[in-house]
Amino acid sequence: MTFCPAPTMLGVRAFSEAPMILRDATAEDVPGILAIYNEVIATSTAIYIDDPVSLADRQAWFAARQAEAYPVLVATEGDAVLGYASFGTFRGPWPGFRYSVEHSVHIRNDQRGKGLGGLLMEPLIARAQTMGKHIMIGAIDADNAASIRFHERFGFEISGHMKEVGFKFGRWLDLVWMQRKLS
Ligand SMILES: CC(C)(COP(=O)(O)OP(=O)(O)OC[C@H]1O[C@@H](n2cnc3c(N)ncnc32)[C@H](O)[C@@H]1OP(=O)(O)O)[C@@H](O)C(=O)NCCC(=O)NCCS
Repeated sequence: MTFCPAPTMLGVRAFSEAPMILRDATAEDVPGILAIYNEVIATSTAIYIDDPVSLADRQAWFAARQAEAYPVLVATEGDAVLGYASFGTFRGPWPGFRYSVEHSVHIRNDQRGKGLGGLLMEPLIARAQTMGKHIMIGAIDADNAASIRFHERFGFEISGHMKEVGFKFGRWLDLVWMQRKLS
């Protein structure tokens, strides 16, 4: 399946009445992205943030991604955002890291386990390759076995395990680094 940057339909999901579309996000998708982000914050250690963030926070994040020409890809059904994936700089504006990117992928809770994350990862990886990037990096909570397996399926390897660098829900969290070569 190929990814279409324009909002072009790619296929109809058998379990769904409206077509599922993969495309670049627009500002109208940010509230849907916010809802997914805040649900992940509230229910898991996949994001090391304790409290929900505001719409303004995600709008600023989206504007920054656009300003730096980094992709934000969404899977949508009608007006609803089912999931999204994006990457940005790794470790901020250090020139020596310019061929590396750090990505994130989040699927709406009622859409997980259906392969949607993979449908977003494939074009995300392709986009990084088109941009001439060399390494894609994911920082994943060590307890997130589903995400670690998911990333292994997409060619990511564990390259580091940092112990107790995070804290959420009253306990220390280990962070696993996963990386994949793009070129
Ligand atoms: C991790 C994630 C991006 C994977 O995307 P996905 O579309 O669910 O991917 P898949 O369909 O390949 O399923 C991934 C695994 O989750 C399992 N799964 C099934 N139903 C699930 C559910 N309701 N919730 C979570 N995981 C589920 C799948 O069985 C699969 O397990 P497996 O590796 O043993 O086969 C997505 O589950 C997600 O957004 N999770 C919550 C946020 C998160 O962890 N983001 C990644 C941060 S690094």
